[in-house]
Parts: sequence; C-alpha cells; structure tokens
Amino acid sequence: MKIPNRVMAPTSDQRQKVLEVLETGKTYGGEDTERFETELAAWCGRRYGVTANSGTSICLLALDAKRIGTGDEVILPANGYVGVLAAVVKRGAMPVFVEADAETSNVRPDAVAAAVTPRTRAVIAIHSYGFPCDMDPIVEIAHRHSLFVVEDAAHALGAEYKGRPAGGIGDMGFFSFSGKMITAFGPGGGAVTDDRGLAEDVSSLRDQGRVRDHRISFVRRTDSRWYDQRWVGYNMHLTELCAALACIDLRRLPQYIEHRRRAAAYYTMRFREAGVPLQLPPSRPWAAPCYLHYTVWSPERDALRETLAVEGIEAIALYPTPLHLLKPVMEQYKTRAGQFPIAERLCNETLSLPVGPHMTDDKLACVADAVIGHFAGRKSATTAAARP
Ligand SMILES: Cc1ncc(COP(=O)(O)O)c(C=O)c1O
Repeated sequence: MKIPNRVMAPTSDQRQKVLEVLETGKTYGGEDTERFETELAAWCGRRYGVTANSGTSICLLALDAKRIGTGDEVILPANGYVGVLAAVVKRGAMPVFVEADAETSNVRPDAVAAAVTPRTRAVIAIHSYGFPCDMDPIVEIAHRHSLFVVEDAAHALGAEYKGRPAGGIGDMGFFSFSGKMITAFGPGGGAVTDDRGLAEDVSSLRDQGRVRDHRISFVRRTDSRWYDQRWVGYNMHLTELCAALACIDLRRLPQYIEHRRRAAAYYTMRFREAGVPLQLPPSRPWAAPCYLHYTVWSPERDALRETLAVEGIEAIALYPTPLHLLKPVMEQYKTRAGQFPIAERLCNETLSLPVGPHMTDDKLACVADAVIGHFAGRKSATTAAARP
C-alpha cells in the first residue's frame, strides 16, 4: 500500500469555486480574500486578519511594520524554520538562537529570558508540529522587556494553549496555508492580531504600501487614492483563488482536527502497548495539539525512515538541520555544532508519520505495524522519555 505523508484533495465545492473565481476576473483583494481574513481572525478570537502570499512573507511584513532591522536582535528557536530566519535576516536584524525543550521541542522560556539584551526587539515562538509553546511565561518575559511577541503558528491552526487558540495569544500570530492544517492549494499565509495599527501596516505593506480603507482592506483601482503611498511596500498578495479555496477549507478545520487527534491517539496507544523505543509526541495539561504532524524522535531515525519507505510509507524528517548549523548561517554568524545540544539532537532524530485526513483506519494500522515491526525484538527503553 502506498501511503503518502500528505494528500491535498479538492472537494466538489472547491472545484466549483475555482470556476466562480475565474469568472470574476479578480486576481487578489476581492470579496473572498476579505471573507477569509475575517473568518481567520474570528477562528483565533482576534479582531483583525491579514493574508499574504506565504507565512514567510507575513513574518517579514510584520518585522518591517514594527521597523525591526539593522542593529536589532530577534530571538528564535535554534530548531526553527528557515523562512522565519529569512524574515529576520532579510530585515537586517540579528537572529539570536535559543535552546529547545527536550520533550516538546519548542522554545524554552528560560532560554528566551537568558537571551534578552538591550538590543532585543522581538521573540518568535514556533508551535512546532502543532504542539503549542508554553506561551504565558514567554509573553510575560517579552512584555517585561517591551518585546514584540510573534507566534509562528504555521503548523498550529486549531491547536490550543490553556483553551486559547494558538496564534491568538502573542501580539501577532501567523499561519501558513501551503498544505498545512488547511490548504490554499498554493503558497499562502495569514496573520491575526488585535492591534489595529499593526494590521493596517501589514496590510498596506503587502499591497505596495498603499493607503488602507476604513476596514483595513484594499483600496480599489477605481479609487482616487489608488496611487497614494503611505510608504514603499511589497507585492505579496494571497491570490483571490487561493483565498477562496482556503476559506472553504477553514470551515472543515474542526473535522480535520478531530481526525488528526484520533489518529495520533491511535499511534500513541499502539506504540506504548508495543513498548517501542521512540520518544513519542509530548503531552501537557495545558496543551491541545492539532497534530499537523505526528512526530517521533529516534537515534535510528534514518533506518526507520528507510524501513517505512520500503513499505510504501512516506515519513518525513522536518527541518533536520538546526538553523545555527545551516552553512550560510555558520559563515555569517560564526555559529557552530554543540551550541544547542538539545535542538541538535531533536533535529537529528525527528521523524513525522502520516496523520492527515487521508489516513483511513487501515492505513494507520499499516503504519503502526511497520514501525512496531522495525523495532520488533528490541523493546523497551525510552518510550516518551525526554533525553537531553
Ligand atoms: C514552522 C514554520 N514556520 C513558517 C513557515 C513558513 O510558511 P510558508 O511556507 O508559507 O512561507 C513554515 C513552512 O513550512 C513552517 O513550517
């Protein structure tokens, strides 16, 4: 049986919508974009939603909107995603990497506190694989030092921290829609915030720096203010087509989350019963993960991945190189191996099993059997254990 890691399958209403959007001739900034921005913000319990052509772009736009750049420092996890690093570096700011928690793989609040200097302007907390960061201490530290708190919720649309939606806790949260919890069937990103000024600025910057109307939305080409610049910006729109498709997908998010949580519970039950020597996904009383990925950690990650591949199962190692060990980063910032041993170990051992809505009960059983089969005869040791 072939089991891909993810499948993007358009539904009949999405197919129909494609034709409708094409007929409107709208390429961006139409009613579907505005609807999606409103519904995304509502999902996260926030006042404002703004979309862009990717999560990376949104992160860049937000740092630009906050005038974070040369001479400033931005704290981010060493085991983070390169797009976040790109946003910081392309603004001319200094990335300050911090250590991960050995069990959750998310950034450690004490590491954030220790990294703050008089030059720090922002903290970017990544909810890795759909498991929320421990946000309260991070927000507390950040606000004590007047730092901008960005939640990278690219993986975490639908996850909750203490009953609050991931992405709806910091000063701004952002998402990616390129085949994540929901899909825009193309690159796409969106941010949510309660800060009207920030929403206006991000919205304007992604639209060539044009003025905004009273809804923080788009001015029209027919509007006399079309050429009124607030400042110089970028062309980073989410296309109308992608916004329309993502908006339809957003309405299915509750069922996607339910499916993923059920699938994750099944894997965990099977792996615990079999006593496989894997570090299993974390759990915390305050966390309701959405399981964009069902991620396990094993020193024999590559061998396990190979075993699964032979059985037609696509397991993926997401971000196997920590940011501080990327070649251009080492060259530019003189970072080196051994600086963040926990993050390095997590990156070396990470493996994500298929867990999306395409995973039927049969497929889930097939993956669980294959993982257990790989370790058969070598039971016990470190199930769900955190090893530094
Ligand atoms: C953790 C994380 N942050 C940010 C991004 C950036 O999103 P995008 O690919 O939409 O630029 C990604 C993309 O995969 C991601 O995994």
